Amino acid sequence: MAFNLRGRSFLKEIDFTQTELRFLLRLADALKSAKYAGTEVKTLDGKEIALVFEKTSTRTRSSFEVAAFDQGAHVTYLDPSGSQLGHKESVADTASVLGRMYDAIEFRGSAQADVEELAAHAGVPVYNGLTAEWHPTQMLADFLTMHEASNKPYDALTYAYVGDCRFNMGRSLLVMGALMGSDVRLAGPEELHPPKDVVDQAAEIARHTGARITVTDDATSAVSGVDFIHTDVWVSMGEAKDVWADRVRALTPYQVNRALLDKSGNPAVKFMHCLPAFHDTNTVVGREIMEHTGMESGLEVTGEVFDSAASIVFDQAENRLHTIKAILVATLG
Ligand code: CP
Ligand code: NVA
Repeated sequence: MAFNLRGRSFLKEIDFTQTELRFLLRLADALKSAKYAGTEVKTLDGKEIALVFEKTSTRTRSSFEVAAFDQGAHVTYLDPSGSQLGHKESVADTASVLGRMYDAIEFRGSAQADVEELAAHAGVPVYNGLTAEWHPTQMLADFLTMHEASNKPYDALTYAYVGDCRFNMGRSLLVMGALMGSDVRLAGPEELHPPKDVVDQAAEIARHTGARITVTDDATSAVSGVDFIHTDVWVSMGEAKDVWADRVRALTPYQVNRALLDKSGNPAVKFMHCLPAFHDTNTVVGREIMEHTGMESGLEVTGEVFDSAASIVFDQAENRLHTIKAILVATLG
């Protein structure tokens, strides 16, 4: 079967078939091995890639830059305030300009509609580096990491995501698991569940792939028997600061702590988080919220779990590089 992805954009998980996603994951694995072995071959010599960030980033930006450099490409980083986009120039016009100069464009912003619009007008591949709705490059890293850590095929992965299920990470882990045929459980308060159309879409995909989909408010049943427990920040980029109080109230029962890990019944259960995470008082925001709420042990995850042997968050972070490189090589190489 052919799965040539040259020229394709990477905007959201459902634009890709399971076969295509598996191909990208295999390619990422091969590129990771080649980098470790010192045998990496450059396939992007002379390519120019624009990295447009309306929101801040550490992992996604670094991964695109290092992946591009490893493969011989050049990048231009346009930071949240460093271009005309949004203030003085529309997404469509920006796309038309960047498409004349660059071979591909990465975009991180608020609205999925913006990255879709960019792709519609750019004439070159566009990669979604996170929107409020989806975080597809993160999904490749998460699935490669779960596969490596468990040595299980993608359709045998069993994982729970607990916390704010209605934002990018909850939605993406639901739909990606559906596409890959995995056993996916989302747990959070009902008001923070993904919208019905997303759950219906995941269920429809699951009918074809054999995935098992659960969306519940019961964290204990969600984590029972899983190999991986994921969470994410309780307030995401772009949300108002004043939602913190409500969010802490709603999500404290879903904190990933030692007791929740134990409820999996799996002594080998692993903890995952896309990062950044509020697990100690060494960040300005984390310190402020922890002092305010008295939650000294951490917010969405306790420091104890974050620093434990169960935590594979830095393997997950590293895999952002190898998986983003796979996207670049497959679509531009
Ligand atoms: N996980 C993730 O996307 O991290 P950054 O915000 O640092 O890019
Ligand atoms: N849900 C988080 C993910 C950060 C990588 C956010 O959008 O801020």
